[in-house]
Amino acid sequence: MSRPPILLTGATGLLGRRLQPALEALGDCHGLGFSTAPAKGFRVDLTDRAATSSLLDELRPVIVVHAAALTDVDLCERDPAAAHRLNVEATRHLVDWARAAGNDLRLVYISTDQVYDSPGDSPEEAVDPVNVYALSKLWAEDLVRRLPRGLVLRTNFFGFGDARHRTFVDWVVESCRAGREITLFQDVYFNPLHVEEAAFLIARLALGEGVGTYNLGASGGGLSKGRFIRLMAEHLGLPSDGFRDGSLADVGLDARRPHDMRMAVGAVEALLQEGMPDLVESIGRLTLDRRQDLAS
Ligand SMILES: NC(=O)c1ccc[n+]([C@@H]2O[C@H](COP(=O)([O-])OP(=O)(O)OC[C@H]3O[C@@H](n4cnc5c(N)ncnc54)[C@H](OP(=O)(O)O)[C@@H]3O)[C@@H](O)[C@H]2O)c1
Repeated sequence: MSRPPILLTGATGLLGRRLQPALEALGDCHGLGFSTAPAKGFRVDLTDRAATSSLLDELRPVIVVHAAALTDVDLCERDPAAAHRLNVEATRHLVDWARAAGNDLRLVYISTDQVYDSPGDSPEEAVDPVNVYALSKLWAEDLVRRLPRGLVLRTNFFGFGDARHRTFVDWVVESCRAGREITLFQDVYFNPLHVEEAAFLIARLALGEGVGTYNLGASGGGLSKGRFIRLMAEHLGLPSDGFRDGSLADVGLDARRPHDMRMAVGAVEALLQEGMPDLVESIGRLTLDRRQDLAS
């Protein structure tokens, strides 16, 4: 049986680097980067409509997983035009190409839990964006849903980064080791997946038939960011001298942040006919990542 040609945007990003091997296991996956090209793939500026169309014309993918984005929430707030160019217009270029090519393209759009801010687990219809990043992602989602085979996956994930991409987990580890103070938000809740789990589930969903919008998060009711950091530190044996309980209001950020990004995951569990990973167990996976890191 021939392997479906798949294109992954954002292949050089935190998620993309994990997602490309997961997609490669299911199809013939080329990745796209911007500053650098992935090992199997190309560089392209997705904000350039002509360059994007000509690459798509050449590769003729049947599935595009679109993970490229301007993900710096504060930068989006300071420069909404840049957020619009990459998060909205680049998505429009993909959607327009799909329409011109006959609408058969399966476009899978990676969105975010930042679109929510209501107490408890938010179902897919309960969006409440509080910053430019969330608005730009919702705008792009709307374009993708116009395609008959469009799939929007709202997610969040955590994991170690690399030299180019430092992550929240890296920042916590580095701050603990340096003895820097860390404010543990008691008033911000989320239910992210481990990045490897997110990649595996996205690949499965991309190859499936589900359309529309789904939350893709962990089960178990979520955690405050403060509790998440404490559990992480326990698992990784990090010093916790710099921990200080506090609230989002204690730090000055350019963009407003949601207080509660927890996503209800019943719909995606029904689609996949299996439960989502448990958040506390997923945090434990970081210990294994660290051991593999040290061994390599
Ligand atoms: N990070 C999170 O915690 C998080 C949470 C929820 C949802 N998400 C969503 O998940 C997706 C992946 O996020 P991520 O954290 O993996 O992103 P990331 O690490 O910030 O990587 C962004 C990707 O976009 C590419 N890119 C930037 N400008 C581009 C351009 N003009 N043309 C083409 N590609 C361009 C980058 O390429 P180069 O690196 O080669 O420049 C990189 O591959 C995004 O859609 C994001 O909104 C992320």
